[in-house]
Amino acid sequence: MKVVCIGSGYVGTVTGAAFAALGHRTTVIDIDLAKVKLINGGKSPFFEPGLDKLMLEMVNRQLLSATTTFDEVYNANIVFIAVGTPSREDGTADLEHVKAAARNIGEHLNPDQFTVIVNKSTVPVGTSDLVGSILEETSGLRINEHFAVVSNPEFLREGFALEDVFFPDRIVVGTNHSGARTVMSVLYHHIIERVNYGELFQWIDFKVKQQQSPTAVYFETDTKSAEMIKYVSNAFLAIKISYVNEVARLCEALGANVLDVARGMGLDSRIGEKFLQVSSGWSGSCFPKDTTELLETGRKYRTDLTLVRAAIDSNNNMLEACVDKIKRRLKTLNGKNIGILGLTFKPNTDDARHTQSSYIIERLIKLGANVKAHDPKGMDKFRTINEHLQVRYCDNPEDVAERADAIVLMTHWDEYAKLNWQLIGQKMRNPYLLDTRNFLVGNQMNEIGFTYEGNGI
Ligand code: UDX
Repeated sequence: MKVVCIGSGYVGTVTGAAFAALGHRTTVIDIDLAKVKLINGGKSPFFEPGLDKLMLEMVNRQLLSATTTFDEVYNANIVFIAVGTPSREDGTADLEHVKAAARNIGEHLNPDQFTVIVNKSTVPVGTSDLVGSILEETSGLRINEHFAVVSNPEFLREGFALEDVFFPDRIVVGTNHSGARTVMSVLYHHIIERVNYGELFQWIDFKVKQQQSPTAVYFETDTKSAEMIKYVSNAFLAIKISYVNEVARLCEALGANVLDVARGMGLDSRIGEKFLQVSSGWSGSCFPKDTTELLETGRKYRTDLTLVRAAIDSNNNMLEACVDKIKRRLKTLNGKNIGILGLTFKPNTDDARHTQSSYIIERLIKLGANVKAHDPKGMDKFRTINEHLQVRYCDNPEDVAERADAIVLMTHWDEYAKLNWQLIGQKMRNPYLLDTRNFLVGNQMNEIGFTYEGNGI
């Protein structure tokens, strides 16, 4: 099949590379020429483990290419809309990119061929109908006759994008159009049946999910329910993390250990062990924007989503609780040197949008602290996004530690576990370490001279 992906962000690029790897001739379209050039050179526009290698192979095999024009839409069987839906000031999703993509698709649809337009972007319920109307208007063609609109939300996590795309738990396809259902099931057949996966393993070093993991459930529903599934899943996960973060604070007050408590909870298969990892809060390009959008949608339709609102409040409280810990320990922050390890919202990504670190750094600076920071991959992007923050960026964690009064470990990058912590402690003015993720072994840190604190342990 001929596949087009509009948007070269996480979802568009990974989807494009994945369908190319499954043998479909795939074109990524983006208005940003720099990103298009990168893709055509076999490089991902962002860091994602394993993706560059896969993309180079696909570009060399001429299965994957990128362009700034929409001409390829004419030849496509399937067009994925995978553009950004950032938050507006009021918390609702900004659909301008989705609408622009729909207009551009409409202008290039082939009247002599049935085309399936798939919404992969995270979009408010009802957006498929909106996309259908724009397509009819701009193309002069009829929905469900010349084309159909499908909602097929993407559930990949940054840092595990390839694992999640090739070994998903579920594939959700929302449409009532039988022709579109057939096209979608043919497209996903390779993933459901794991066709030619042997070859995939030559290009991709899958770390987490192996071939033995259960096969994906292919779930068909209507467009609105599919759109809803994406939002409510993300909100549920955010609620789950906020819950364990609150439990961590209570554990701390009572002298229980949240690592054991979370493990004990997770052993109940109804609860499950995943997403019970304590942190300074959830963040990134999805959870914050999707929870606020869902909350606003609820408000518009007179359904007060109290749990979602509570999770957002709880998340802010958790960040503030981390700042409070530092304040308690250092008394005044005026003139104190604080080192931050980890600027991305989680490890294995260079995505520095809406990170916990940006919030905490801003608070620390306001309280008078001098902040130095390091991140293995996300430093450049963090600096660009957070130009307003007076931070000294360091090429290595040892420099962050130089004369520091505290180190705050924000992101649990593997390489931070392997640091020479003894040396780091020696460089500090006051060897206080706040490990917001409970990532390091506290006793060991205490033994080598740190005053170690985690969250809830
Ligand atoms: C999320 C969803 O998981 C994914 O299905 C969807 O497609 C996009 O949004 P992503 O934003 O890449 O993916 O990151 P995720 O791994 O879900 O983590 C989100 C935030 O929660 C991060 O800040 C992470 O550090 C935090 N988190 C996650 C925790 O604090 N504890 C956990 O146990 C898990």
